[in-house]
Amino acid sequence: MKETIDILIERLGGLAPRIAIVLGSGLGRLANEVSKPVRIPYEDLPGFPRSGVTGHAGELVAGYFGSVPVIMLAGRAHYYEHGNAAAMRPALEVLAGIGIAAIVLTNAAGSLKAEMPAGSVMLVQDHINFSGMNPLIGEQAEARFVGMNEAYDRELREALERAAIKAGETLHKGVYMWFSGPSFETPAEIRMARILGADAVGMSTVPEVILARFLGLRVAACSVITNLAAGMAAGELSHEETKDMAPVGGEKLARVLRQFLTEEMPDV
Ligand code: HPA
Repeated sequence: MKETIDILIERLGGLAPRIAIVLGSGLGRLANEVSKPVRIPYEDLPGFPRSGVTGHAGELVAGYFGSVPVIMLAGRAHYYEHGNAAAMRPALEVLAGIGIAAIVLTNAAGSLKAEMPAGSVMLVQDHINFSGMNPLIGEQAEARFVGMNEAYDRELREALERAAIKAGETLHKGVYMWFSGPSFETPAEIRMARILGADAVGMSTVPEVILARFLGLRVAACSVITNLAAGMAAGELSHEETKDMAPVGGEKLARVLRQFLTEEMPDV
């Protein structure tokens, strides 16, 4: 990843962000709020994913959010695209390699709680990896035995909660369960997920959390709820709905993240 690290450092021209934000489906417009943006298509960054999912741009945007230097990744790779759970590993290694210390992952998710409808935002407290897959399979280093006790950093979570209060936005809290996708869950799977302790379901984030912890990054994650999960509402789920609904919660999440970055973020 040395080559990509060098390319990125050169393109950043002295900008040295400590925090990065990964933007999920339909949340890419957050990157438009970055001032003095340096926009780098993933094609220019060897190892970065080529996402073929509509609603995912495939662009790194670096600059300032308020006075805080940040990197935003508009677009991620999903396990369901190629069957590679470690698809985001090179990108995360590059971020760690240029000095990123903390990462906020965002995603679109289905809700298992009627009181957390589409348009809500959920702070991920913990996750359930239901895919049977792990991005560190095959890794030889002893560090592969990553502790996941506090995968979602307490200080970052508390800061996001404070940010939400100050921004006047409701921030739900819950457990995110990773299903591989790309098909949506069945109603029976959603009933199972609820029994197992999930509050939201989605097709991303969990492998990135595992990789980020492996790389020593501090992690937080927020889900934007785009729908009630399968069987909870009339009609069929679709990616169109995900893309249409993501900006609703995305606006709320943007306000929370703005407050977080400019006022509440701990030293990382
Ligand atoms: N299930 C899985 N992933 C999702 C959903 C869902 O209901 N909504 C948005 N992403």
